[in-house]
Amino acid sequence: MSTRDLSAPIGIYDSGVGGLSILAALKALLPAEQFYYVADSYHCPYGDRSATEIQGLALGVAHHMVDAGCKLIVVACNTISATSLPILRRRLPDIPIVGMVPAVKPAIEITRAGVVGVLATQATVRGALYLEVLQQYGGDTKVISQPCPGLVELIEAGKLDCEETVALISHCLTPIIKAGADVIVLGCSHYPFVRPLIERLAGPLVRIIEPSDAIALQTRRVLEREGLLTDAAPHSAGRTLFATSGAASVFDESVLRLTGIKSDAESLIWVSGSLRALSALPVASRCS
Ligand code: DGL
Repeated sequence: MSTRDLSAPIGIYDSGVGGLSILAALKALLPAEQFYYVADSYHCPYGDRSATEIQGLALGVAHHMVDAGCKLIVVACNTISATSLPILRRRLPDIPIVGMVPAVKPAIEITRAGVVGVLATQATVRGALYLEVLQQYGGDTKVISQPCPGLVELIEAGKLDCEETVALISHCLTPIIKAGADVIVLGCSHYPFVRPLIERLAGPLVRIIEPSDAIALQTRRVLEREGLLTDAAPHSAGRTLFATSGAASVFDESVLRLTGIKSDAESLIWVSGSLRALSALPVASRCS
């Protein structure tokens, strides 16, 4: 069992705004907890990067969250989970880490057609974790893994239902629909923000699965198991601090647009593979 401060925040990490879909589910299920949301917007999107590069970034952000005093880390990103969960857990054995993998198992349980589509990033569908899940649960079901390059960028830009987004999603759905899939898994935490569009384009006979609630439940299970549920004073319940390695004003606008939350994000900066709060840097570094 961890000896961490129970009133410490839960760290949530994504390349950008995608993890906000998980944050909403966490806040609903764990209203007494505090949260620290970190977006590595400077390097977003992660999905087209190599596994080695993503692992380096994931370690940098996770170390920053430990230094910030988080009691648990939720990797609210399929791409980071698919490529980096084992290395994160190996290198940071003292903090519980909850990851996410595309919800292929529940999709396989409910498909009647025997065909399931998975929308995810390139790095996720190539990732070891995803391939393991397919091997373990795939069975006779035909699983069509469809990368959607460019979709994360459109969501980051707030283009949730414009012509370009409609064209991109239609293109990505074509092989899935042609194969007769009746279930589609949203295998990237950004994609719930375009769920209405995906539903419209896929048609009423296709069910959509997204994992936000399952991740929140798993987080609660881990907090209980580790004896880490909060004992914080009620006045701090639900408080969320935001931080980004990108332009804070752009991030704040996206958060407001997508969730209605005023984030007032702290600026972070990468220095030799480490992520630091800009305000904590010596003045000389800030001026360089
Ligand atoms: N939200 C991330 C995921 O779940 C986005 C990945 C990216 O930055 O490309 O995969």
